Amino acid sequence: MNLLKYLCLNCHENQWRTYSTFWQCENCGQQYPCVKGVPRLYRESHVGAKDKALRDFFYNGLLGRYYQHIMPFLALPVRPAYKKGWLVYTLIVASLLTLIGYVVYLLVGLARGTHALSVLDIITVLIVLTVGYFFARHRYLLYLLVLAVPVKISLLFTKFRPRATFAELHANLIAQLSQRKERLQVLDISTGTCNSLFRHGWMKLDADYTGLDLSETMLLQGLDFMTAERVPMDFVLGDAVELPFSSETFDVVLNYGALNGYSDAAQALAEMARVAKPGGLVLVLDEQLYDEASAVERLYFRRVLSSHNVHHRCPVELLPPELARAEVHQVYHFYYLCLGYKQ
Ligand SMILES: C[S@@+](CC[C@H](N)C(=O)[O-])C[C@H]1O[C@@H](n2cnc3c(N)ncnc32)[C@H](O)[C@@H]1O
Ligand SMILES: [Zn+2]
Repeated sequence: MNLLKYLCLNCHENQWRTYSTFWQCENCGQQYPCVKGVPRLYRESHVGAKDKALRDFFYNGLLGRYYQHIMPFLALPVRPAYKKGWLVYTLIVASLLTLIGYVVYLLVGLARGTHALSVLDIITVLIVLTVGYFFARHRYLLYLLVLAVPVKISLLFTKFRPRATFAELHANLIAQLSQRKERLQVLDISTGTCNSLFRHGWMKLDADYTGLDLSETMLLQGLDFMTAERVPMDFVLGDAVELPFSSETFDVVLNYGALNGYSDAAQALAEMARVAKPGGLVLVLDEQLYDEASAVERLYFRRVLSSHNVHHRCPVELLPPELARAEVHQVYHFYYLCLGYKQ
């Protein structure tokens, strides 16, 4: 591991003494604890309120633990040939309607005096209350259940065609980068489970990979996944708005599905530009609605896909001057890809 790429957040030097349980800066003595050998190179007191809330409620919670299942499910109406998702959807909706039907039958029976309350009734009411509490906390899931079918139907009538597809853009980038002579340094910010890094062609490069994320639950899944896939990779728990890396370190800086949710997207973009080498590629993918979206698709976008976000489109006005020439592509109905080379 190249330790020189890591910066101490306290003194901004890069001299380290590393142990499996903590890292220590040789310059100022600051210690950073490790989780399963992964250093926690961020300052909790500097993490933005929104990032903290997202981490604690979503990514270290239910969504993070079952991320691989819940994330595709949230995109149910837009995913082609997703039979398993629709089967689960049907089972959930049928169960909820049965529960609601039973409670209505119970209330009517009790009001008319034709029904005496049994233990089974009480258990059913408790289940209904628990389910109600769950959906009150995870309202985006309730919106998904209500909107999935109308959105699926609405999408059948739209004619969205990207000028360049997600796959084409990635294939071009990887072909260009493959021609570089030196071994590349790739940083994946908010890498999470490493799903995007692994699946979109980056593994074809002759490269060293570094992944950073604020959530332990997410990052440790990424670590386990890449270990199982035998991909050597450096992991760090860190904050995208204060990257613990030396400037001009990476040839490729990626950010899939996280920028729009940060408290301070401008600072995160400035940090991406700072750690990229001159001429280095900066790539961001996140939610953005296509222009011709129908009313029901807009509702689904706002209440489900982009419900947790601060920004609901690519925040181009926040790009730092070094990335002023970045291009934004609407690659899917609900996602943009922003590509720039650091000037
Ligand atoms: C939607 S997930 C995307 C994960 C991965 N890039 C992918 O495409 O599968 C968003 C990730 O951003 C991370 N994240 C949120 N705020 C962050 C911050 N301030 N710094 C670093 N990571 C952050 C979350 O922990 C989560 O893993
Ligand atoms: Zn230090």
